[in-house]
Amino acid sequence: MSRKIDIHLTVNGRQHAHAADTRTTFADFLRDDLRLTGTHVGCEHGICGACTVIVDGEAVRSCLMLAPQADGATVVTIEGLSEPDGTLGPLQRAFRKHHALQCGFCTPGILTTAHALLTQEPDADETRIREVLSGNICRCTGYVTIIQAILEARESYRARSTTSAQP
Ligand code: FES
Ligand code: FES
Repeated sequence: MSRKIDIHLTVNGRQHAHAADTRTTFADFLRDDLRLTGTHVGCEHGICGACTVIVDGEAVRSCLMLAPQADGATVVTIEGLSEPDGTLGPLQRAFRKHHALQCGFCTPGILTTAHALLTQEPDADETRIREVLSGNICRCTGYVTIIQAILEARESYRARSTTSAQP
């Protein structure tokens, strides 16, 4: 029998208070309840990475979380990776420039994974980027352009981390 409980969370800077079904995955909650359909659901078994979102700074599989587990969390989804003025963020711009997507199904999960990595480790080298991305399956691109795009976007993350580190 399904049951709903009230949860409070911040998603892409916006606060939400919502009754969440206790059996609903966080991925479905984002898509169906909050209408943030940029998060994609592929395998629903934690394998493909398409559903990756950032919860309290960590990249997580939203298909492996239940919605009530996000109570109190600060979440970033693919919709939160654009600039405050609505233009594309550095990863999005680089993916477009390098043609790093074809069908685009994997792209939200790859962008959120890369965003979490570069936010925590702006000096991540190609080996580290490949290691972290190994959990995201892309069936179209062969990864070469994806890596090129992330390496280019890394410069923006490095610049931001240097700026935020200044007194
Ligand atoms: S849908 Fe969550 S990892 Fe595939
Ligand atoms: S762009 Fe199609 S699965 Fe990655």
